[in-house]
Amino acid sequence: MSSFPDKKIAQRLLEKAAQLATRGRYSDQALDPHQAPLAARDRFDIALPRRGRDPLEVIESLDSAARPGLSGMTDAGFMSWVIGGSHPAGVAADWMAAAWGQNACLYEASPASAQAEAASAKYLLDVLDLPPESSVGFATGATMAAFTSLAAARLCVLERAGHDFERKGLYGCPEVAIYIADDAHVTNYSALRYLGFGSDQLHRIPSLDDGTYDCDALEAAMAEDDVPARIVLAQAGHIMSGAFDDFTRLAALCKRHGAWLHVDGAFGLWVRASRRLRRIAEGVELADSWSVDGHKWLQIPYDCGFAIVKHEEYHRRAMSMQAGYLPKGEPLRNNSDYVPELSRRARGFSVWAVMQSLGRKGIEDMIESHCHSAHLLAQALRRLDGVEVINRQCLNQLAVAFHSPHCDGAEAVAQALNASGRYFVRTAQWQGRKLLRFSIINGETGPDHVAPMVDEIAAAWQAISRAAA
Ligand SMILES: Cc1ncc(COP(=O)(O)O)c(C=O)c1O
Repeated sequence: MSSFPDKKIAQRLLEKAAQLATRGRYSDQALDPHQAPLAARDRFDIALPRRGRDPLEVIESLDSAARPGLSGMTDAGFMSWVIGGSHPAGVAADWMAAAWGQNACLYEASPASAQAEAASAKYLLDVLDLPPESSVGFATGATMAAFTSLAAARLCVLERAGHDFERKGLYGCPEVAIYIADDAHVTNYSALRYLGFGSDQLHRIPSLDDGTYDCDALEAAMAEDDVPARIVLAQAGHIMSGAFDDFTRLAALCKRHGAWLHVDGAFGLWVRASRRLRRIAEGVELADSWSVDGHKWLQIPYDCGFAIVKHEEYHRRAMSMQAGYLPKGEPLRNNSDYVPELSRRARGFSVWAVMQSLGRKGIEDMIESHCHSAHLLAQALRRLDGVEVINRQCLNQLAVAFHSPHCDGAEAVAQALNASGRYFVRTAQWQGRKLLRFSIINGETGPDHVAPMVDEIAAAWQAISRAAA
């Protein structure tokens, strides 16, 4: 007896799932599920039945169990963390990828999955205007993209220092100096840890107020150190300020010291898609590798990130695996040659579908529209008494202080916005202050959303200040 449902039932099941998921996506439920008590949100904790249930009924119970705990991440008012809105074309393509059941590991296993990644890789290099010879791995997100790129970096700098990493691993390897801005995104520290670099190998360079490198301090540290191998991590788009490092200067420093330059551009690298804004990331193309997310500004459904490496040989040597039963990709692409996993989902379909749906112009317009909206929001907030926008230059991120001697202003405003059901925002601690963060990165969000939001913030802030006085 098959453990799968009969084909007719299976078809009904998939159609039903599409119906329920669509209804869930476009419901008018409050965006922040934490507004309801925890008990109302946990409907999963039920006994595992001995005999299986009807899958149609299971899918319906999944829908009702999950709904109360779903965040409104696809809605214009979701501005917390840095989370893209899952473009509908990407969602549809991802459903198709799941329904087709493709394991995207090898060309031999799924030619379409390999071709979709190969074509999307070309689009990405073109839109981001990075060296066309670069190789692209489709990873789960920027964390694993950084891990992948830095694995290639480790192999290269150790080889240049005369160490055969592939044979000896980290045992007896020469010292590798890793330079990283103190306020770099936490996931870069994680990626380095997974690669075997402990805190003693990290040269933490002071950050400026906007979180970027103090380049003078970096230059002095690199001049002082006498090490055979170096890797420099830089950032395109700081998580709080949206600020960018001075890549032209960093690239020149790296060239002088034979260092590998890696850029974490999880969201910020996408400014390269805008002819008007790309100067912010000038010189970023001079790096050796880049990690960038698809599931942030490009609106690919979760999960999707890209490890882009200028030196394909090191990328492949760091990631590819060989076994008698695994066919080689050459001259065609084996997707697994560029990421840590062998088996994985076919992310190329959703990337291809979203990039085809938006087109070059659509991507450019979206990036510019988000940055313009952030700029409008910053301008309006700066006009409110007791409100301070911390960022000097707004990309799409805003960090805002609400000054009140009597209460935690940022938290109180966040709570008022979230309680309205129309927003999902969060506060963060940065540089010793509690700040309200706005990340304008959702495909649904645009300049028209700014004025109503400012009205809500102003009304909430006025009520909070009055009550606290
Ligand atoms: C600057 C930066 N780097 C890295 C990451 C990690 O990305 P992911 O969560 O996709 O692994 C993020 C996530 O917000 C980020 O903003």
